[in-house]
Amino acid sequence: MDRYAVIGNPIAHSKSPQIHAAFARQTGQTLSYEALLAPLDGFVSAVEDFRAEGGRGMNVTVPFKLEAFTLSTRHTPRAELAGAVNTLAFGDDGILGDNTDGAGLVRDLIVNLGCTLGGRRVLVLGAGGATRGALLPLLDCRPATLVVANRSPAKADELVALFTPHAGRAALAASSFDALAGHRFDVVINATSASLSGALPPLPSGLYAPGAVAYDMMYGRGDTPFMAAARTQGAARVADGLGMLVEQAAESFTLWRGVRPDTAAVLAELRRQLDAG
Ligand code: ATR
Repeated sequence: MDRYAVIGNPIAHSKSPQIHAAFARQTGQTLSYEALLAPLDGFVSAVEDFRAEGGRGMNVTVPFKLEAFTLSTRHTPRAELAGAVNTLAFGDDGILGDNTDGAGLVRDLIVNLGCTLGGRRVLVLGAGGATRGALLPLLDCRPATLVVANRSPAKADELVALFTPHAGRAALAASSFDALAGHRFDVVINATSASLSGALPPLPSGLYAPGAVAYDMMYGRGDTPFMAAARTQGAARVADGLGMLVEQAAESFTLWRGVRPDTAAVLAELRRQLDAG
C-alpha cells in the first residue's frame, strides 16, 4: 500500500490524516496516511526513514517547512518563491518540494466562498511564512492592488521586493498598519499568527469596502478575534481558514495521485466536528 504522512511538532491534533483518508475513500485510491511526530532536531532523519520504508510523499507542517524546502532536490515555482515546502513527493530521481498553501487559500476564496479576486483590492496582513506562501497564487489571480501590511514594515518591504517581478499589472505595495488608514479593500486576509495568541493586528477602522470579505487563515471553534472585529467593522462576509486547510490537502493529494478529490463533503464534516467541539 502506498504510504503518506504528515510530519510536524506538535502533530497530535492534525486533521490531515482524516482529510486524506476521506479523499482516498472518495476517489477509490488505496493508500495509508499517518501523523508523524518528529523531534525538533530530527526532521531530516525522520523523513529519510519514512522514505526508506517505502513512503511516497509527506505533508510538512510547523515548524519544518523551511527544512523541507532545503531537503527538496527540486521545487515547483510556487514553492521556490515561497521559500517553504508543505508537500514532498518522493521519486527515484529525488524529492520534489511543493507549497500548496497559497493555492488552497485561493481555491477556498474563489470556489468555496464565491469571492472574486481579479480586479479587486486585496490586503494581506502579516509578512511571515504564511504570507510568502500566499502571494504568488494571489498575484496569479490578477488583483488590481495587493497590499502587504505588517507590524514590522521592513519585512513587508522585503516580501514586496521579492514578488514585484511576479506582480504583472497588479499594484503590489508594502504598508505599516497605521498607513492603511483611509484605504479600502475588497478582500482582507489575516496571515499573521496573532489569532494564535488571541491577539488582533492593530488595524485602522474603515478598511472594508462595501461587500468586502474578511478571511482569517486560522480557524477554531467560533470566530477568531480578527473575524469578530471584521464583523463589527462592516465586512460583508467573514471566513476562517478551515477551507484553506482542506483545499491545500486536496492540492497535495492531486499532486501525489493525479486525481482531484471533491472537497465539499470533507469540509462540511470537519465544520460539523469543529462546531460540535
Ligand atoms: P507564519 O509562518 O505563520 O507566517 P511567522 O513567520 O512567525 O509565522 O510570521 C508571523 C507573522 O505574524 C508576522 O508577520 C508577525 O509580525 P512581525 O513580522 O511584526 O513579527 C505577525 N504577528 C504575530 N503576532 C502579531 C500580532 N499580535 N499583531 C500583529 N502581527 C502579528
